[in-house]
Amino acid sequence: MNMLMKPNPNNAKIIIREVKIGDERGIARAHAAGWKAAYRGIFPDEILDGMSEEKGGPRFREAIEKRLSDDNAPPFLLAEIDGGIAGFASSVTPPQQAADIYDCEIKAIYVDPRFHRLGIGKKLVSETAKRFFDQGKRAMLIMTADGNPYRAFYEKLGGKPVEGLGSITVGGKEVPLIGFGWKDIRSLF
Ligand SMILES: CC(C)(COP(=O)(O)OP(=O)(O)OC[C@H]1O[C@@H](n2cnc3c(N)ncnc32)[C@H](O)[C@@H]1OP(=O)(O)O)[C@@H](O)C(=O)NCCC(=O)NCCS
Repeated sequence: MNMLMKPNPNNAKIIIREVKIGDERGIARAHAAGWKAAYRGIFPDEILDGMSEEKGGPRFREAIEKRLSDDNAPPFLLAEIDGGIAGFASSVTPPQQAADIYDCEIKAIYVDPRFHRLGIGKKLVSETAKRFFDQGKRAMLIMTADGNPYRAFYEKLGGKPVEGLGSITVGGKEVPLIGFGWKDIRSLF
């Protein structure tokens, strides 16, 4: 159980760091809360209602182990607020789509809704972009399901719409993908 309370944005201590073993439950909690906030009415309720830190933990444990086993693996960053896990950003190379233009992708970025609008999402994107740049990457993509209520976040960070990305099917429901691209990731840091 996460006992974090909504912090005062003026003095909350936010830290962005690499993931480590033991973070998997907190990451799964932010992931489940983020999906429920972003995809209600887009993906089936039974899929969203079935998501939890207990179910997601093992999958994220595997993803953390994969990241830690290879120094050159794409960044997998976590945001802590006042010592608890508030969100994360995981990434892939090459992108799952549009790999002719983009050479890296934030595959998932989720901030627990209790901590939205505190600047955490922006810091996660910026730190991921810096690490990608250090790995020689230059153009970054983020995709999400059409109808995602948070598209203004990606637009605010300067992401340009990317078309023709196909669709994603979750629980039998097919939804078009929308994308946001940064052809020069230095604009993010
Ligand atoms: C998108 C998300 C990561 C943003 O995280 P966040 O920590 O709340 O974002 P920030 O506080 O860094 O926001 C930076 C700026 O983006 C814009 N922004 C963020 N959320 C917004 C919203 N809901 N509506 C309008 N603008 C928004 C604002 O301009 C904001 O700056 P401001 O608060 O000073 O006005 C978070 O809302 C989230 O986890 N959503 C669900 C996840 C998701 O949709 N993931 C899909 C892709 S894998």
